[in-house]
Amino acid sequence: MKFKFSLILLVFVGIFLSYGQKSKIATIAPKEIFVSELISKMTLEEKLGQLNLPTSGDITTGQANSSNVAKNIGQGKVGGLFNIKSVQKIKEVQKIAVERSRLKIPLLFGMDVIHGYETTFPIPLALSCTWDMNLIKRSAQIAAQEASADGINWTFSPMVDISRDPRWGRVSEGSGEDPYLGSQIAKAMVTGYQGDDLSKNNTILSCVKHFALYGAPEAGREYNTVDMSRIRMYNDYFPPYKAAVDAGVGTVMASFNEVDGIPATCNKWLMTDVLRKQWGFKGFVVTDYTAIMELTEHGMGDMQTGSALSLNAGTEMDMVSEGFLNTLQKSLQEGKVTIDEIDNAVRLILNAKYDLGLFHDPYKYCDENRAKTEIFTNSSRSEARKIATESLVLLKNENQLLPLKKSGTIAIIGPLADAKENMAGTWSVATKQENSISLLAGIKAIVGTSAKILYAKGSNLDYDAALEEKATMFGKTLNRDNRTNEAILAEALKIANQSDVIVAALGESAEFSGECSSRTNIEIPQAQKDLLAALLKTGKPVVLVLFNGRPLVLTDENATVPAILDVWFAGSEAGYAIADVLFGNENPSGKLTTTFPRSVGQVPIYYASKNTGRPLGNKEGKFEKFKTNYIDEINEPLFPFGYGLSYTTFEYTNFKVSASKINFNESLMVTVDVTNTGIFDGKEVVQLYTRDLVGSVTRPIKELKGFQKIALKKGEKQTVTFKISAEDLKFYNSELQFVAEPGEFEIFIGKDSNTAIKTKIELVK
Ligand code: BGC
Repeated sequence: MKFKFSLILLVFVGIFLSYGQKSKIATIAPKEIFVSELISKMTLEEKLGQLNLPTSGDITTGQANSSNVAKNIGQGKVGGLFNIKSVQKIKEVQKIAVERSRLKIPLLFGMDVIHGYETTFPIPLALSCTWDMNLIKRSAQIAAQEASADGINWTFSPMVDISRDPRWGRVSEGSGEDPYLGSQIAKAMVTGYQGDDLSKNNTILSCVKHFALYGAPEAGREYNTVDMSRIRMYNDYFPPYKAAVDAGVGTVMASFNEVDGIPATCNKWLMTDVLRKQWGFKGFVVTDYTAIMELTEHGMGDMQTGSALSLNAGTEMDMVSEGFLNTLQKSLQEGKVTIDEIDNAVRLILNAKYDLGLFHDPYKYCDENRAKTEIFTNSSRSEARKIATESLVLLKNENQLLPLKKSGTIAIIGPLADAKENMAGTWSVATKQENSISLLAGIKAIVGTSAKILYAKGSNLDYDAALEEKATMFGKTLNRDNRTNEAILAEALKIANQSDVIVAALGESAEFSGECSSRTNIEIPQAQKDLLAALLKTGKPVVLVLFNGRPLVLTDENATVPAILDVWFAGSEAGYAIADVLFGNENPSGKLTTTFPRSVGQVPIYYASKNTGRPLGNKEGKFEKFKTNYIDEINEPLFPFGYGLSYTTFEYTNFKVSASKINFNESLMVTVDVTNTGIFDGKEVVQLYTRDLVGSVTRPIKELKGFQKIALKKGEKQTVTFKISAEDLKFYNSELQFVAEPGEFEIFIGKDSNTAIKTKIELVK
């Protein structure tokens, strides 16, 4: 037996050795043997090289730029490179690794392919509003197809950070406030990118981020301290990361923030106890940009200390800091890290390269023909357009002002109307902004010659030019108009007065949200509010087409504007998709995945809140002394989680449960009939919530536990069925055990989290 094994080993070693001579071979040894052999040949410097992830310098997001990258690659001091775009460039760089470095180990090529590559999908927050897991997965598949065709084999996506604070700019990049929905989306994205076989050339390695709790910075201020109870972490913030791990995500990115007083990058409890021991993660952890370097500012010590702490914690790859590369040798000599820790980190990174098939063919993602034929294709673009239409949320539609008729004179007014550079939204590094379709272009294309289209800018993004500059970075210009505010407005009012209807394209610019775009005021900027007021004063019907990367406070607009369509940043096909919905080619079906407050003072605000010991006694939300409320605002949000209108209407009837009691081994069926009672075909997201009425710890007043998006023709009725068992009623108790407890539960069904259609069931031992 032993002899047989040695023989096999010998054969594999022989094959492996031949790998050294040729860059491409047909068969290589099984992963464990191959990687062990490779590690046994590596010098310490080469090992530390594998843990090093510099940026190419093409794109920078943080505080440092890596220099001498090519030289380091040739010396085996680089494990991967990121944010380098184009198959030609990547091929050249891979060649340096494979032909010049001693062990010829191929590089990983990472990129922030967040919501599409050149074909751009809606920003993740918008994508989540589709509530359609097939579409979301499809968006990741197309992104992987395009990115892999251009040389990329690793994406820093999905970002699954739950956030309940719209002041934080990166709510745009996540899937909203809910752990259940966020978990479904995490799974759809990971399986979309990675497929079922990473070694195919159109699937790429996914990286779930930012582990953990990055979406809960104090005061919504970017990179700020996070302080949270463990029970909340486990119940509300951890589930989407865990879902990504369960779906087989290959890599995890550590977050910038601290968790329980220790920055995530060097937090052993997080990276080893939770991620590896509790969840069984088998891949590698990469830091965020310069995060090891930043440990010094956090007060964790110098670069040497921070690097050693991070490796000890279970973080394997160092993005940009070069702390691992330059300090771990000394730490090894001093006994601060062990060679086993280093070898283990190297192994996990080599495993990923092996899984991608890079040892088999380092150039497998470098097919220039694919780059020519598979990127920004008509078919990807038409899928992106369809997905974009499903992400738009109709917030208000008084007297069925929408859909608009393709006739008469239509005035398109606002700083976001003719702004193709802003359509793709934040974190769209691979897109060619000039290829995106602006609202104006989309409307013109859809209306053709049937209506007269007039356009004016109406106002700048804001009166404050300095603020506009910060909100229009990375080439996402709004071409600030330097005429007087009065002149810009007068031009708009002139065309407004000539029109039958006004489409006001207002809100945020693409970089008003995203990384390091926290806001304290989350209203539409004043210049645009003034424009809107002037447009309303003309007496013409006004449709507000709202661009935004976060929930905004729309209390004034909701009170005055008859129709509001939230279009987020819908991607490269935005203009077409919005026009499709405005003119009724498509019926809006998006539903909010994050609560819209009435006032920034209500933040953090989310539907799954606790009841407290002093809930309000009246349903109208009237102020009550010594109850949990505000003296100057009601508790209710402006638009709740799950909310979104359609051009048609849906009626819910015949709500039933198949049993009123179940034990821990049984399940019951919840059914409801949904009828399209309006005059358009449409889609509805039927939502199921539960409330655990008595628990060993306090439980939220509602928790999403199921949803189904159904399409109904006008007049059509469908019975929608959900299955509930004890598994769905589980939560983390004060010992952090995942349990269901016997007792009574309310089951709610309806069109948003505000639904009152409910019944009671009991879980018995
Ligand atoms: C962001 C990450 C991103 C990384 C690499 C950082 O600034 O926080 O989300 O993946 O840069 O570009």
